[in-house]
Amino acid sequence: MIKAVRGTRDLLPPDTALWNFVEAAARDVFRLYNFREIRTPIFEQTQLFARSVGEETDIVSKEMYTWEDRGRAASDKGESLTLRPEATAGIVRAYIEHDLNRTGLLQKLYMMGPMFRRERPQKGRYRQFFQIDAEVIGPPAAGSESPSVDAELLEMLAQYLERIGITGWTLELNSVGCANDRPKYNEALRAALAKDIDKMCEDCRRRAVTNPLRVLDCKVPEDQPIIEKLPRMLDYLDESCRQHFQAVQDLLAAVGVPYVINSRMVRGLDYYTRTAFEFTHGALGAQNAILGGGRYDGLSESLGGPKAPGIGFAIGEDRLVSILAAQFAQGQNPQIAEDFGPFLNRPDAYLAPLGTGMNREAAKLASELRKQAIAVELGDESFRLKKSLETASKIYARYAVIVGENEVKADAFALKNLATGEQVTVPRAELARRIGLPEK
Ligand code: HAM
Repeated sequence: MIKAVRGTRDLLPPDTALWNFVEAAARDVFRLYNFREIRTPIFEQTQLFARSVGEETDIVSKEMYTWEDRGRAASDKGESLTLRPEATAGIVRAYIEHDLNRTGLLQKLYMMGPMFRRERPQKGRYRQFFQIDAEVIGPPAAGSESPSVDAELLEMLAQYLERIGITGWTLELNSVGCANDRPKYNEALRAALAKDIDKMCEDCRRRAVTNPLRVLDCKVPEDQPIIEKLPRMLDYLDESCRQHFQAVQDLLAAVGVPYVINSRMVRGLDYYTRTAFEFTHGALGAQNAILGGGRYDGLSESLGGPKAPGIGFAIGEDRLVSILAAQFAQGQNPQIAEDFGPFLNRPDAYLAPLGTGMNREAAKLASELRKQAIAVELGDESFRLKKSLETASKIYARYAVIVGENEVKADAFALKNLATGEQVTVPRAELARRIGLPEK
């Protein structure tokens, strides 16, 4: 039997209702902050990710789905392409390609969709997973470097999580400095690593030379005691980065978003400068980050674009949905059930044609009702009434409408409330209104 590929999965109804709910809520909340949607391709040139996410990261060095795309004609050159492992690089590429800097405005963009990383699959970690990503990017004159952009983005995230009913998260905040203070910090790291580097894993030994900041991202348990004693980036921030970080914190306090400082957090991508953050949640287990993000003030330039500082985040939608599903299953937060109920697509009415020739009548009635915004599931004239009513209950229809010869003649139909069992006869012209009335 052919099965879904390891690390990928099918999302089936009714679970998809939860996915639609979190996506619709994201669109609603993002609109309040004046974000607009962008959609970029699922694959890009490999170089894009190598140059932005960084050659030394796990994502680029181990986890990308990359292939050599053959030219169609003998004269066409092949090119190396990669399934996107994240969204930021593609969005910044699009920003540069379409010269959005020229608008002189902040671009506030969001995107939702699948990302691909060849990680070891486990709970909360997939090879195809979904992100809800948002980015704010623009020329400095538009205010793109301002700490208020950072704080607004974090406050938006807090509002979003509150809106969908997720509580108990922790915002972990750090500043990873900038092109000005990073070299001094790298030097300090190299110096501190010099005596212990022989005891560390192979990746760390290489990274200590090529990109020492990456050492902080090492997950090998034996290396952790050494990593814990390394100097902290926060002690090496230059004056402007220090002030920026302080301003972000002051604004967060002003808008009432709680946070903790995590000076070890470097994030798994190389483009970050200054503010870096993750929202973690205890219900997630080992893969505890619901979302992550940060500032990337030099990314556009490193891809050959104009100076266009930016900041963004990506929510791991799989993890978000799993928290909600667990809260829902445990009966916590009844508001969730109410809020996402409409996404379950419960039909308003099940039409039960009764007897030969009634499929035609039921089809006509169904069409009329649907034009009046009534969601209808159609039975079949070959079903006995008992089977029709059982089916109607199984699909959680609110009403069954019986379409038999007598009903058609009288132009009035038996309408059965499936929750109460109550049955009334309703003239055709009133049927839609009657079905559409809110439940008591
Ligand atoms: P990231 O931390 O690599 O950041 O991913 C963001 C979130 O995606 C993670 O916190 C996690 O919830 C989810 N995620 C990552 N990998 C997996 C996986 N294999 N399975 C399930 N969920 C996963 C970025 O991707 C940056 N582009 C975020 C960003 C946007 N920074 C600035 N702008």
